[in-house]
Amino acid sequence: MAAAATRATALCLIAAALLMLITAAAAASDTYTNHTVGGDAGWFFDSTTNKTSADYNAWSAKQTFNLGDYLIFNTNTNQSVIQTYNKTTFASCSIDDSLDTDTFVYDSGSDGLGNPTVVSVPLTIASTQYYFSAAGDGIHCRHGMAFTIKVATGLGLPPNLNQPPPPPYAPPPGPADEGPLPPVPVVTTRPNGGVRTGGGSSFLWLCLVVIVLL
Ligand SMILES: *[C@@H]1O[C@H](CO)[C@@H](O)[C@H](O)[C@H]1NC(C)=O
Ligand SMILES: *[C@@H]1O[C@H](CO)[C@@H](O)[C@H](O)[C@H]1NC(C)=O
Ligand SMILES: *[C@@H]1O[C@H](CO)[C@@H](O)[C@H](O)[C@H]1NC(C)=O
Ligand SMILES: *[C@@H]1O[C@H](CO)[C@@H](O)[C@H](O)[C@H]1NC(C)=O
Repeated sequence: MAAAATRATALCLIAAALLMLITAAAAASDTYTNHTVGGDAGWFFDSTTNKTSADYNAWSAKQTFNLGDYLIFNTNTNQSVIQTYNKTTFASCSIDDSLDTDTFVYDSGSDGLGNPTVVSVPLTIASTQYYFSAAGDGIHCRHGMAFTIKVATGLGLPPNLNQPPPPPYAPPPGPADEGPLPPVPVVTTRPNGGVRTGGGSSFLWLCLVVIVLL
């Protein structure tokens, strides 16, 4: 009896530890992340040496980017933040020929006045996307102010970043055709969100009962 109880207790403890690990892993992927570009070094270019404050490709290679995450550029207004989905624009280090549909200039670019600023860029499209500073006529970009990221779906967009198009216009039903209303489309914003491991405490209770019974 005592040996069986000890064995059951040991098994329960092992199972509980595993359960906690699984719950922790689920919790880790159940949040959105703000990625500070370049880490503590931020997004800076020194024009007197042509050097960046961080190796941005090395930095981005260590991150996992998902929809709903943000890139946070700690910088000043000597650098610009350009987001593009167009590889040609990225490779050119310039926005001179870029299209408004695939390239976005944050905070109107750089003014050369060096005022501290923080640029927050939400990741709203799951695809490869490119970032660079177009300041200095492309000198920044050609000397390393440029990186590529790949954004995965993750939890999907949170409601505040997800703006579904308005429902299509439907004429009000006339007297001759008063059928049932069409079903309202359901917008799912977080396909794998809301999956929580809630069985932890009930499992431990079951363990306790088993041990007491033995
Ligand atoms: C991430 O950055 C956005 C935009 O600046 C902000 O609204 C949000 O609160 C930040 N989230 C966290 C967890 O810091
Ligand atoms: C920085 O690089 C540009 C070319 O990209 C060059 O013209 C300029 O002289 C360089 N400046 C320094 C300080 O090395
Ligand atoms: C990418 O941008 C260039 C201009 O920089 C434009 O000519 C080209 O059509 C764009 N490519 C796509 C696939 O839209
Ligand atoms: C910003 O750029 C201007 C012009 O190149 C330079 O004189 C100034 O020192 C820079 N400021 C900062 C904070 O880097």
